[in-house]
Parts: sequence; structure tokens; C-alpha cells
Amino acid sequence: MAMVCLSDFEAYAKKYLPKIAWDYFAAGADDCTTRDENILAYKRIRFQPCMLRDVSVTDIRTKILGTEISFPVGIAPTGFHQLAWPDGEKSTARAARAMNTCYIASTYSTCTLEEISAAAPGGLRWFQLYIHRNRAASQQLVQRAEASGFQGLVLTADLPYTGKRRDDVRNGFCLPPHMKVKNLERAFEGDDWSEYGLPPNSLDPSVTWNDIYWLRSLTRLPIIIKGILTREDAELAVRHGVQGIIVSNHGGRQLDEGPATIDALVEVVEAVRGRVEVYVDGGIRKGSDVLKALALGAKCVFIGRPALWGLAYKGEEGLQDVLRILQDEFRLSMALAGCASVSEIGQHLVQFSKL
Ligand code: FNR
Repeated sequence: MAMVCLSDFEAYAKKYLPKIAWDYFAAGADDCTTRDENILAYKRIRFQPCMLRDVSVTDIRTKILGTEISFPVGIAPTGFHQLAWPDGEKSTARAARAMNTCYIASTYSTCTLEEISAAAPGGLRWFQLYIHRNRAASQQLVQRAEASGFQGLVLTADLPYTGKRRDDVRNGFCLPPHMKVKNLERAFEGDDWSEYGLPPNSLDPSVTWNDIYWLRSLTRLPIIIKGILTREDAELAVRHGVQGIIVSNHGGRQLDEGPATIDALVEVVEAVRGRVEVYVDGGIRKGSDVLKALALGAKCVFIGRPALWGLAYKGEEGLQDVLRILQDEFRLSMALAGCASVSEIGQHLVQFSKL
């Protein structure tokens, strides 16, 4: 089977994954309006390409928080990679390192963060944190991440509770018994693990902006906040001293009928005024989507579901294929739009007035 674009991997995953795993990966909240809108919003943006710009040599490298990556696409945190491939997050870490990009490992990984580190020493990795009611357990996670070489801490802000994903409810989704949310195993020993194979009511819905100061006191790692969608929250994030913002609606899995992330990006970038780096995830399915996001001010984008499709196809190799296809498509779009390097990408490339 020739894999030409990311939809080919999606079709493969849908065909070969067990239905319960496919449904969990694909799920959006409620009517899935925002999940689908993330993709549709990219299709509404038109380019204004520049011609005759000497694109004989193209440089698609960039830096995030000072570290160089081979192109501006990283891997968003997603849970339970063993549902896609037996080696789980270890394969993800190896693929990210091989492609020289950033992998954000989820709290809800099926490998421990130490196993993830050991699988791909030296790779650029950030750790994504959900704050649990058991604050000591959260603190331990942060400290383990720092000790095992993770270079950034991503606080996910949009999940005080899990959104209502109908197919997961219908399927009674939970992890098969041989898979574990290994990062949390020690923290919740003895508790009755129900929902998704997680301890019940373990997330802390009382988290506020002040908890950023708490995190700051626990770690020297840069803090990146994920799940921001408005100028007001972007301003609060900057004021609370974060180093980066990921504009995200959790792939449309939380509050349905919020904005598409590419639409929200514009107002967040405007509010931030270059004070911290802004990234975006949700609905990136081809290289030209990456170009649009960068033109609208994102420093880098992250992919969620497409990475899972790559894993489902062929583990580490499949994920590398997904990244390589996106990389080639991005290089081509950039050149066709008249840019020889990432630094030449700007708002002039899109019909901004129509947004
Ligand atoms: C997610 N997402 C997510 N986010 C997070 O901060 N921690 C997590 O554990 C998870 N888990 C997770 C599982 C699955 C199956 C999906 C699809 C998503 C959200 C993820 O980081 C990202 O915001 C979206 O996936 C981006 O949208 P696309 O690229 O999937 O369209």
C-alpha cells in the first residue's frame, strides 16, 4: 500500500485497529463540531503566494525555546500509545528523535517517562502534566520528568473533567487489562481504577492560574500552557510567567463548539505580542496547513491523531513516514509560496483580511 498523504494512514488505522481503540482516537466531544471545524477552518484560508523568489535551496529548520528542530512540526501529547502499537510511547520517542523533532509525552502514557527517556536518549522531549488531586503525586511526576531529561513541562489547562465522547461511552471504553497508565501506578496504589483504567475522580478540577506559581516552585523547566483559545487567557498566561502557549482545543474532545484553533491562533498571537512563543495544534493534516499556521504567527505546530495513525500503521517506522510526508509537503508548500526559509513566512502569505 503506497502511503502518499496523512489520510492514507487514517484509512489504514480505521481499517485495522480494534473498533474500541479507533473510536477512542477519533472521538470528539458531543456532536464533534469543533473536532471537524479544526480541519474545515484550514480549508477556508487562502494563500497569497510570492513568485520568482529563488527557492533553489530551502531551509525548513526552526527553534522552539532555543532548541533546533528539523521542521516546525512536533508530536502533541496523546494517551495510551500501546492501543496503537505494542511498544507504545517508546516507539513514538524513537521516531521523534530520528526525525529530530519534539515529542510531548502525556501523563496518560502506557510507558513510564523513564522508559520513554531511555528509549531515545538525547531526543527533545517535553512532559505533559495533568494535575491530580493527589498533589504529591503530581509533584513527583514533575520531578521525575526533570530528572529523566525532559526539557519542558506542558500544563494542559482544558481538562478539569473529561469531555463527553459518545462513542467511548457507548463502547464502555477502558484500557485492556495488560495496559497500564504506568506513570500513575505508584501514586494510586490500592485505589479502584475504573474510568479508562484510571483512578476515579483523580483529576483536580480546582486548578487555577495560581497553580502555575506552584509548578514554578517545583521545577526549573520552562512551562508551556496548553489549551488557550482567547486573548484574555493568553494575557493571563504571559502574566503568570509561562514560556510558551499551545493554542489548542484538545482536538475538539473537550468543550464542543468552541473555536477552531487556527481561528483562535490569530487573537492569541495578537495578544501575546511576541513575549512568549505560541504554538498550535488541532486539524493539521498536510504541509500547507503548517504553512498557514506559521503565517498566522505559530512558531511550530503539533500533531495528535496523525501520529497515532502512523504508529498504528508500522510503529516507529510508520510515525516516521507520517512526519516525513508532512515535512516534504511543508517544504514544497513553502517553496511554492515563495519562501526559502521559515523566517520568510509571514502574514503576507495569507488573505488575512478575510479571516
Ligand atoms: C489527546 N489530547 C491530549 N492532550 C493532552 O494534553 N494530554 C493527553 O493525554 C491527551 N490525550 C489525547 C488522546 C487522544 C486519542 C487525542 C486524539 C488527543 C489532545 C492532543 O494533545 C491535541 O491537542 C489534539 O490531538 C490535536 O488535534 P489533532 O492533531 O488530533 O487534530
